[in-house]
Amino acid sequence: MTIAYNKRTHYCGDLRASDADKIVLLSGWVNTARDHGGMTFVDLRDHTGITQLRFNPDHAVDAHKTARTLHNEDVITVTGKVVSRGEWVNPKLPTGEIEIEVDGVQVLSHADPLPFQVNDDFDANEDLCLKYRFLHLRRPEVQEKLRLRNRIGQAIREYFVENGFVDIETPFLTKSTPEGARDYLVPSRVRPGSFYALPQSPQIFKQLLMIAGFDRYAQIVRCFRDEDLRADRQPEFTQLDMEMAFVQADDVMAMVEGCVQRIFKYAMDIDIPVPFPRISEAESLERYGIDRPDMRFGMELQDVTDLVRDTEFKVFRGAIDAGGVVKCLVAEGGDQLTRKITDGLTNEIKGIGGSGLPIVKVLEGDNGVEFATGIAKFIQPLASELCKQVGAKPGDTIFFMPGTFADVCKYLHFVRTRLADILDLIPPNQWNLLWVVDFTMLEWDEEEKRFFAKHHPFTAPLDEDIPLLDTDPAKVRAKAYDLVLNGTEMAGGSIRIHQRDIQEKVFAILGMSKEEATEKFEFLLEGLRYGAPPHGGIAFGFDRWAMELSHSESLREVIAFPKTQRAVCPLTDAPGNVAQAQLDELFLSIKPLPKK
Ligand code: AMO
Repeated sequence: MTIAYNKRTHYCGDLRASDADKIVLLSGWVNTARDHGGMTFVDLRDHTGITQLRFNPDHAVDAHKTARTLHNEDVITVTGKVVSRGEWVNPKLPTGEIEIEVDGVQVLSHADPLPFQVNDDFDANEDLCLKYRFLHLRRPEVQEKLRLRNRIGQAIREYFVENGFVDIETPFLTKSTPEGARDYLVPSRVRPGSFYALPQSPQIFKQLLMIAGFDRYAQIVRCFRDEDLRADRQPEFTQLDMEMAFVQADDVMAMVEGCVQRIFKYAMDIDIPVPFPRISEAESLERYGIDRPDMRFGMELQDVTDLVRDTEFKVFRGAIDAGGVVKCLVAEGGDQLTRKITDGLTNEIKGIGGSGLPIVKVLEGDNGVEFATGIAKFIQPLASELCKQVGAKPGDTIFFMPGTFADVCKYLHFVRTRLADILDLIPPNQWNLLWVVDFTMLEWDEEEKRFFAKHHPFTAPLDEDIPLLDTDPAKVRAKAYDLVLNGTEMAGGSIRIHQRDIQEKVFAILGMSKEEATEKFEFLLEGLRYGAPPHGGIAFGFDRWAMELSHSESLREVIAFPKTQRAVCPLTDAPGNVAQAQLDELFLSIKPLPKK
C-alpha cells in the first residue's frame, strides 16, 4: 500500500470506444474481482459508473499478482491503456465497448469483509443498512436519490433568487413554536433549569422578517418535531420556507406553482401545467374522505344516507339516528375482490378502530340487479335504486360505512387507498397536483374541550368570516392552502393575521389567557404593534418532494443519515446517555425509568 498516488485522468463512467489507445489513470472501488485462471478482471466503480480492468500476467506480472489479492470495496488506482473489448462488448454498461489493459495498480485502502454487499441490490435489514449507511450510499441507485434531492434544492434556490427572495437564517436555539407537535428541548447551562426548544418551523421569525421590511424571504431550513413517525415523517426534516409581504393567497400560490414547474423541469425534465386545480376542504372530505385527496383514480365516496334512512338494517339506522351518515364506494372488479381480501380489509378496519366493513356484491338479477353476500339480505329491496344512484353494475362490490362523518371519512379513505393498491388503480408516472383551500380555521378537541388551530394560530380568517369569530368560531374558514401531490401533503401555508387585535382574539378562542399569549408569543405581538404589512407564505416539505419524485417509499431513502421509525440513528446510536458531569453542569437528574 502506498500513500502517494497520481491524479486520475478520467472517471470510471467516462471512457468510450473513441478513447481506444489512450493511456489513462482511474481510481475507485473494486466493485467485483473475477479470477479467470490466467486473466483477472476487476470492475472499477466510482460515482459516475463502472469500467472493466483487465489484468494480464503476460503483460504486467506484478499488477496481475496484486489484482489476485483484491477484495470487493478495496480502493485502488490503476494506469493502463484503453482497449476495445472486441466481440465481448457489455451492452449493459455505457463503458461496455472498452476495457483497460492495466500496466500498474496501487491499493490505496483495503476493505474488511463487508456487512452486506454493495454491488447487488439485495435488501439487507434496514437497521444494518443505516448502521453502515456510508456503504449503503455507495450503491448507485441509493446515491441517485440524494443527487435528485440536490437537483431539487438547486432548482428551488435558483428560482427564489430570480424572484427577489432573500435567504435569511433563523435560530435553532429558540422558544417553542406553534406547529402542534411536541418540542425537542435543549437545556441551558448558563440559565440552569431553563430550556431552548428546537424550532418546529421558522414561522414566527419569517413573519418578523416581513415586519422588518424584507418583503420576500426564502430559506431551506431544518425543522424538528417530536411526533409519532411514519414513512413520510421524520423527527428532523427540511422545509423550503418562504414568506411574502403585501400579497393575497393567489400571489403565494402562483409563486409556488412557478417553483413546482421549475423543480419538475430542472430535476426531471418534465413539463407541469399550471395553475393547479383547487378543491375546498369540505368537498375533498365529502368526495375522498381526506383533505389530501389522491385524484389519480376515481372511486369516490358517495353519500347514501337519504336512500337508506328507512331501512330496517339496524347498523345503518343506528348511525343515522345518532346524527351520522352512511357512505359507500363502488369497486369494479368482482373477481379480484375475493372473500379473503374483503375479510382482510374488514380486519384492517377493525385494527384501526372501526367496527366492521359492510359489503355487498352486485349481481345480474331476474329483474335487473340484486345484491349478494355481506349485508345483502338486509338491503336487498334497495338494490336497484341504490345501484342507480351510485352507478354500480353487476360484477361490482359496494363497501359501506355508517358512522359519524369524521369516522366515515377516516375508514372509507383507508378502504379507498387499500383498494387502489389491491386493484392496481394508480397509473404509473402521473403527477397529480392540486390545492386544497377554504379550510376551517379551528378544530374542536372533545377531550380537551377546546379549539385547536388547524394550521397554526397565525392563520388569517377569510375576510367575510371575521364576524363569525365572535358568534360561531367553528364555522370560520381560513386563508390557508395546502399543496397535494398524489395524495401526499407537500406544502402548507396561509395568509397571516397582521392585526394585533385579531391575533389576540384568535389566541383567546384557542383558550389562551392574555398572560399565556403574552408569555408565549410576546415577540410576535410586539411585532404586530409597530406596523406589520399584510403577509403570507408557505413551507414545502423538502424531503417529501425528494421522496415523491424519486418514487421512494419512505423519507429515509432521501435523507443521507435518517432516523428509524423509533427516532433512533443506527449509525451514531443517538440518542445516547451522557456523562454524569454533563448532567451536573446542567443541574439535571434523570428519574428512574418506569418498569415495563
Ligand atoms: P406545516 O406544519 O404544514 O406548515 O409543514 C409544512 C410541510 O412540511 C412537511 N412536514 C414534514 N415533513 C417530514 N417530516 C415531518 N415530521 C413533517 N411535518 C411537516 C409537510 C408539510 O406540508 N410554518 C408552517 C408553514 C407556513 O404556514 O408557512 C408549517 O410548518 O410537507
